[in-house]
Amino acid sequence: MPNAHFASDNAAPVDPIIWTRMGNINKGYSLAYGDDEVTREALDQFQQVFGVETSTYMVFGGTGANVLSLQAMLQPHEAVICAQNAHINLDECGAPEKIVGCKLIPLETPDGKLTQDMVRPHFDARGDEHAAQPKVVSITQPTEYGTVYTLDELTALADEVHKAEGLLHMDGARLYNAAIHLDCSLEQASYGPDMLSLGGTKNGMMYGEAVVVLNSDLDENMKFLRKQTTQLPSKMKYIAVQFTNMLNPCWYPNATNANQTASLLAEKIQNISEIEISQPVQTNAIFAHMPSPKSIAKLQEKYDFYVWEEAFSEVRWMTNWSTTEEDVTTFAAAIRESVA
Ligand SMILES: Cc1ncc(COP(=O)(O)O)c(C=O)c1O
Repeated sequence: MPNAHFASDNAAPVDPIIWTRMGNINKGYSLAYGDDEVTREALDQFQQVFGVETSTYMVFGGTGANVLSLQAMLQPHEAVICAQNAHINLDECGAPEKIVGCKLIPLETPDGKLTQDMVRPHFDARGDEHAAQPKVVSITQPTEYGTVYTLDELTALADEVHKAEGLLHMDGARLYNAAIHLDCSLEQASYGPDMLSLGGTKNGMMYGEAVVVLNSDLDENMKFLRKQTTQLPSKMKYIAVQFTNMLNPCWYPNATNANQTASLLAEKIQNISEIEISQPVQTNAIFAHMPSPKSIAKLQEKYDFYVWEEAFSEVRWMTNWSTTEEDVTTFAAAIRESVA
């Protein structure tokens, strides 16, 4: 069986701190659907982290968080601008199109990032009744390539979107890793967007994600929309307790470890001339061109990982909160062997 250490951060185990705390609250009865002490504590903590005027809605998963976010931001005739490789465009089985009923306008980007210049023409072209009207720009922080919007890039994009009376959505499935790279708080790393899909699973939780409403004008119908989009967990406290521990203490050490082990892997393979790292390594993903499909197949005999662009033999290797230096050293040796 190939080992899955570098396939995805979703392949990693649950952080034992979170596992234990889930066990600790697993006694007695409490009211369902979030009417319990653990959930109230988590919601308080979200406000401490993201600001008192924000509100948070915990959901089952990341696709659900994105669908709920977009649902709350769009009228039926409006559209979402996103990167071509955005999770909402490629990896959600058309859930935004089917459930929200919106059109996505995917844009090609070399590094996964959208810029003001890319989105401006789409806003400028609004008004034609034959075309869906761009309203939301959805970005991923860090991007699907593991690259990170700087705080200046975020502010500039948010200003452009808001100047056009649009709204900015951030898919922050791995926001923690972006914050470590930027050396800033979670609040700063998500400054500018109106709505945030906040992850948890990829940084050590078992399941559960959240929608943080950063622009309180969008809060009005959230609780109804969450239920209608099938994202209201009855045993909410088990997600809540994971988030209280993710927000303090787990996010920082876990994301630090994931980013540092990715940098270490990049360092260990940078002198293998047959391997070309194809994106800057800023968080916990490494994208690389391998010399041939044969070398990929050889490495996949030992390790599970995803081929990103088959045509260019481009692969993705991911580290996570539990990756060790030894894992990295062994994997780097296997990479070296696969191209020898
Ligand atoms: C960028 C991004 N957004 C959202 C998700 C969440 O997806 P899921 O519905 O599998 O929890 C993922 C998972 O891989 C992701 O990579």
